[in-house]
Amino acid sequence: MSDNRPRRTFAVISHPDAGKSTLTEALALHARVITEAGAVHGKGDRRATVSDWMAMEKARGISITSAALQFVYRDHVVNLVDTPGHSDFSEDTYRVLSAVDSAVMLVDAGKGLEPQTLKLFRVCALRGIPVITVINKWDRPGLSPLGLMDEIERQIKLRPTPLTWPVGEAGDFRGVLDRRTGEFVKYTRTAGGATRAPERRMASSEVEDVDAQAWSDAVDEHELLSLDAADHDQERFLAGETTPVMFASALQNFGVAQLLDLLLDLAPAPSATEGVDGSVRQVDDPFSAFVFKVQSGMNSSHRDRMAYARVVSGTFERGMVVTHASTGRPFATKYAQSLFGRETSSVEQASPGDIIGFVNAQALRVGDTVYDGEPIDFPPVPSFAPEHFMAVSARDIGRYKQFRRGIEQLDQEGVVQVLRSDLRGDQSPVLAAVGPLQFEVVEERMTHEFTSPIRLTRLDYSVARLTDADGARTLSGFRGAEVLQRTDGTYLALFIDKWRANNAAREFPDVLLDELPAGGS
Ligand code: G4P
Repeated sequence: MSDNRPRRTFAVISHPDAGKSTLTEALALHARVITEAGAVHGKGDRRATVSDWMAMEKARGISITSAALQFVYRDHVVNLVDTPGHSDFSEDTYRVLSAVDSAVMLVDAGKGLEPQTLKLFRVCALRGIPVITVINKWDRPGLSPLGLMDEIERQIKLRPTPLTWPVGEAGDFRGVLDRRTGEFVKYTRTAGGATRAPERRMASSEVEDVDAQAWSDAVDEHELLSLDAADHDQERFLAGETTPVMFASALQNFGVAQLLDLLLDLAPAPSATEGVDGSVRQVDDPFSAFVFKVQSGMNSSHRDRMAYARVVSGTFERGMVVTHASTGRPFATKYAQSLFGRETSSVEQASPGDIIGFVNAQALRVGDTVYDGEPIDFPPVPSFAPEHFMAVSARDIGRYKQFRRGIEQLDQEGVVQVLRSDLRGDQSPVLAAVGPLQFEVVEERMTHEFTSPIRLTRLDYSVARLTDADGARTLSGFRGAEVLQRTDGTYLALFIDKWRANNAAREFPDVLLDELPAGGS
């Protein structure tokens, strides 16, 4: 959808079970959902998430693409970009984060920071994405709020700056103290949290309907936080040094309107983006977009392949012919939208920050740029250090053609990284993953979608370092190491463990052996 309304594009990220689906639903409830298309035939790695969104579609009568939920709130257009659920956690999440301007990190009040929360915070820091933290499930017994702030500060080195502070301990959630106005925001439960929860604001001198002790405790803690310089600072938030915090119960719809207000008031709007050559695309320059996700097999009756792109600049108009930066070829978007979702519906126009889906765009890969006007090529979406490696081969050699096509497709989608060497040959490449669940996705899709069941053999490596052709030659006889090449031409040196990698670096000081950004555990 294109118009002049301001945009906010964000993702909700969390450890599994912190309440991401519940919050997404609550956000949709508070806003006017405008997405028209619903691409809901997920397969393999998308199944869990897609089915959650499908259930939501049914329950609420709203419609969601498998990539983004678009809604209007206070005359802003908000794009909530979907991230994979826990059962398929992989590099996909990291790539999705390249398409957003901010993230909402959901923390379970009873559990505090969990392993995936920490990993995701790290990735946001790496990509410079400002994070708003929501402490969820405050309607249930949980940790102390000051203890949680301390944990955030110690474990992720971000200064928490609470914007609201809970009144009533976890499990007895009465409302919050709005730290910017000093008011009490009182929440009232509705049956099953099925409708918007009514809120009443009261000046601190007029607080009623709440235990006096609970209120004075909240005021005391609020003052302690102010003394400790834990007040919101917009510049430091945008610089990734602080994280505004709020307390909520997604299930009860408590705090959801405040979160939307925060996103509009504090989260960054789409902004200029730098290309690989250092040139800058301003949002009002001619159209440009980059592909952050490629997905296939969503519609079993058509062998379709969707490429999802985030609009960086200009206005996208369906039917325009753009240039595919990596090949320099024209790319027609005429039919691109015609199969978007379950129905034949289309996105006619889109603005910076919006997500568009190109159907059957065989040429588009993850990280690709398309543009109109002056050329631009955005930097590739970073790949993370794989830590799990399997040799793969076709179970039935008679289905080698299907095997090759399937592996090529999954490689292009970025489901796993595919590594090859002359030594191993094309019949048995190596699959490299950040998380082992990626292999399950490959197995399932190879069997069902590409009709070539595979054999996976675990390799003993756990560390990958970036090297080059020289490195490949030098390391070719080095014990406990092997150099393979990714489809994009990058050489990766695999080692059994980091001691051997460090040993090789000492023994061959002139050989390039750079570390890759860590994504896994
Ligand atoms: P996820 O997408 O992050 O994995 O989490 P999801 O929303 O599925 O929520 C996980 C569980 O936590 C669900 O319970 C959900 O109802 C519950 N939950 C989410 N937000 C809140 C909250 O604010 N307060 C409380 N008390 N619970 C919350 P479940 O029993 O696993 O599923 P269900 O049967 O309730 O759907």
